[in-house]
Amino acid sequence: MCGIVGYIGKKNAISLVVEGLKRLEYRGYDSAGVAIINKSKDLKVYKAEGKIIELEKVIPTNDEIIGNIGIAHTRWATHGQPNKKNSHPHIDNSGKIAIVHNGIIENYRVLKTFLEEKGFSFYSETDTEVLANLISFMESEYHNLEVSVREALIKVEGTFGLAVISSDYPGQIIAARRGSPLILGIGKEEYFIASDVSATIIHTKDVIYLQDNEMVVLTQTGYTIKTLKNEIVEAKIDKVDWDISQMEKGDYKHFMLKEIFEQPTSVGNAFRGRLYDNLSTTRLGGIGMSLSELRKVKKIQIIGCGTSWHAALIGKNIIEQIARIPVEVEYASEYRYRNPIIPEDTIVIVISQSGETADTLAAMREAQARGAKVFGITNVVGSTIARETDGGVYSHAGSEIGVASTKAFTSQITVLGLLAVLLGRMTNMSPIDGMEFIKEIRKIPKKIEKILALNDDIREIAKSMVNSTNALYLGRGVHYPVALEGALKLKEISYIHAEGYPAAEMKHGPLALIDENMPVVAIALNDSIYDKIISNLQEVKARDGQLIIIASEGDKLVKKMAKHVIYIPDTIYALQPILSVIPLQLLAYHVADLKGFNVDQPRNLAKSVTVE
Ligand code: G6P
Repeated sequence: MCGIVGYIGKKNAISLVVEGLKRLEYRGYDSAGVAIINKSKDLKVYKAEGKIIELEKVIPTNDEIIGNIGIAHTRWATHGQPNKKNSHPHIDNSGKIAIVHNGIIENYRVLKTFLEEKGFSFYSETDTEVLANLISFMESEYHNLEVSVREALIKVEGTFGLAVISSDYPGQIIAARRGSPLILGIGKEEYFIASDVSATIIHTKDVIYLQDNEMVVLTQTGYTIKTLKNEIVEAKIDKVDWDISQMEKGDYKHFMLKEIFEQPTSVGNAFRGRLYDNLSTTRLGGIGMSLSELRKVKKIQIIGCGTSWHAALIGKNIIEQIARIPVEVEYASEYRYRNPIIPEDTIVIVISQSGETADTLAAMREAQARGAKVFGITNVVGSTIARETDGGVYSHAGSEIGVASTKAFTSQITVLGLLAVLLGRMTNMSPIDGMEFIKEIRKIPKKIEKILALNDDIREIAKSMVNSTNALYLGRGVHYPVALEGALKLKEISYIHAEGYPAAEMKHGPLALIDENMPVVAIALNDSIYDKIISNLQEVKARDGQLIIIASEGDKLVKKMAKHVIYIPDTIYALQPILSVIPLQLLAYHVADLKGFNVDQPRNLAKSVTVE
């Protein structure tokens, strides 16, 4: 979703902020812009619809763009069309103040009417332009940019991560956050502001994660952080523990493909140090609950969005099976508005790769407001969910750039498996079964490698789906959410309409869609419901559906039924989804790539959805 980068220091700002924007491209956007204050202390603003390359075309190469202070933005449209007029930075009526903003000003209509009555005019449909002029209005009273921004923000209802510059204050950037992430990067005689550390990691690994209702004033020589109540904040400087190489594609054509191929490592990182051989169990130190507290858990609610929600469904299946604790799974966007019931001895788990998804954050806060114990499974260190939960487990997938989540998903389900064993070993699970899980999970990275070796075969199979307009994905038990995830991957990046379905439900509707043009991707592994799913697939075959079956190695029966079979290694039930989803990720990737689409940045989608 929208990205912010700002720079103040001794170097030329424009190239640094545009480079920073490129590092944020993966988040998804539809227009981009930049504002700098040049050597003559003039504010210069350049914007373009479309990709950053379009922005670069409109930035002149003469001296007017030389300056040491700049802010830049990639916009994902919320208020108004994704065009140049609505893109950021927005300037106030005086032409002196420029602002970039993520989030939504909920009371912008009221503020706009107020400002119109004071003689301000508006050129865009955005809430951000209202904020630019509100700051301008305050400036006419306070003549101090810091105070003006603060007074304006006090009047604002809604969320913001923002950065402001003014040609009247050519040595300052003011930035603030409420609800939308913002980090301060601390370099040598230079400072950065960004919505995401990826934008600045090449320059510095020293960062401060700004908290809600904090504001920072940056100059060439330092920074001051205060609350919106004007109280000084002594913020802790964190070290980013990952490397720039994670932001590079290397030899891979796309980040998504690279991330799929990283799964032997990322899954290994998710369980490393968390297996407890002596007691045949697992340990998850960050949960922030003692074993005796965990023993009292009677119910679990898991909340997430998108792919994280699919991980939650898998978690439900595994936890209920291993630990015999009832689990409810809910979309964060529904949970927050549903007046949820959270009984005593319930823990709420929020799952989010980014740790910033607006609906998930709101659901988490709703559960916390009701006094529930909430912990997070997040990937991004220092993210809002990681900071605001009572405890949590990092999924350690490493930086994920492709909008369509892959390695973050398998890491999430790995962590959920560890949690199931931790809970199960206190209740229902025998030491023998605990040890079997540990032995099996250690073999998973090698088994993933075996599936990845089928990449070329899967690309061939993908060719048979390139011209399809619809596809069905079927699974049962723990593979039903895997089918949902496979379908989501396909629709996200190839724009082919795809549905995931519990295989036995086919006969209650979707069977009517089956003909020789319908690809049906099914997961039918050697487990207790193998015979059942084979019967369901016979119904598809009888109607000429084009079956692509993910099967266990050595299964000869499926060969007779399917147009294509992708064989994957066996493992225990609780770990099967980590393996069965990988061919589906590759299949979606290759279909989209064969269609020539922008796999890493699919249209209309964003990596981290920070608006409701
Ligand atoms: C967006 C992304 C998805 C992701 C979902 C939830 O829609 O494109 O890939 O699954 O948000 O994101 P989260 O960061 O909360 O897991």
